[in-house]
Amino acid sequence: MKDALEQIRSEALANLAAGRDEAAIEALRVRYLGRKGELTTVMRHMREVPAEERPEMGALLNRIKDEIEARIGDALAAARADARQARASERIDITEPGRRPVVGRLHPLTQTTEALVDVFLALGFSVAEGPEIEDDYHNFEALNFPADHPARDMQDTLFIAEPDGRAELVLRTHTSPVQIRVMETQRPPLRVIVPGAVYRHDSDTTHSPMFHQIEGFLVDKRVTFGDLKGVLTEALRRFFGADTAVRLRPSFFPFTEPSAEIDIGCFNCHRRGGSCRICKGTGWIEILGAGMIDPNVFQAVGYDPEEVSGFAFGMGIERITMLKYQIDDIRHLFANDVRFLRQF
Ligand code: DAH
Repeated sequence: MKDALEQIRSEALANLAAGRDEAAIEALRVRYLGRKGELTTVMRHMREVPAEERPEMGALLNRIKDEIEARIGDALAAARADARQARASERIDITEPGRRPVVGRLHPLTQTTEALVDVFLALGFSVAEGPEIEDDYHNFEALNFPADHPARDMQDTLFIAEPDGRAELVLRTHTSPVQIRVMETQRPPLRVIVPGAVYRHDSDTTHSPMFHQIEGFLVDKRVTFGDLKGVLTEALRRFFGADTAVRLRPSFFPFTEPSAEIDIGCFNCHRRGGSCRICKGTGWIEILGAGMIDPNVFQAVGYDPEEVSGFAFGMGIERITMLKYQIDDIRHLFANDVRFLRQF
């Protein structure tokens, strides 16, 4: 019995020495001192001990029991202190620097659009929008592109057939149909700009199947080609800089007559040309198409071309943005890689 008691003692003390948490210590208490614990079990055999040895055995058992109880008390105190310490170190450290939130910014195309819109708002224009899914009439017919006219080949159109195959729907190839939609519902004088997405079956480093334009038009009595040149020169100088050179070249669009292509003097080489990559050495950069609104367009919307006149213009947002920031591939603008977008 004596050996058994010594065995229990050394095992219990070893177990209690290892740093344990409160639950583990409670389990050890049950194991050694509990009602069915190891010491209690040994005590039951006391009857079998010869009478003369009993007092000695009883004393030993009590001493071991007291010792184990004392160690349990110590271990519990240590475990509680450890737990308190752990809780204290979990407290929020208010001196730790915060994490800086990532601040977003406007997409470069949005920045260009907003800057251009601001220029025209200051010149008295207001903003209109139209549907991106258009019908053939507004996208082409009313803009003086007759069916089967070769001018339709200027734009690689994405057609959407209606279920019954009757009217043809298209993804608008330009913002010009909004001219028709505005003039159908409003009377002159009109000064309107139309920013928006347009679609063409076209894809390479400078063309995307979805891109953006800003359309503009002004309709009133006695509007002249001089007004076109004056207003657009002023707008381009407000956007690109007051000393920007502007030139007009004759061109063709079905919905304007006469039509012009408008160039600005290269802002990179200041028209020196040479090896300039922006203007490809020409000294000039093509920025927009424009012209006097064709009488056929006025007739389509019920205006009398003898009574009113006006000019219209259209420009590509991607093109202007790519020129401004020297972006060599249009796809960068739509990949939405933050490493690219962060630069603007
Ligand atoms: N709609 C033309 C295009 O997408 C751009 C344009 C040219 C618009 C001349 C106009 C304009 O309003 O007068 O190519």
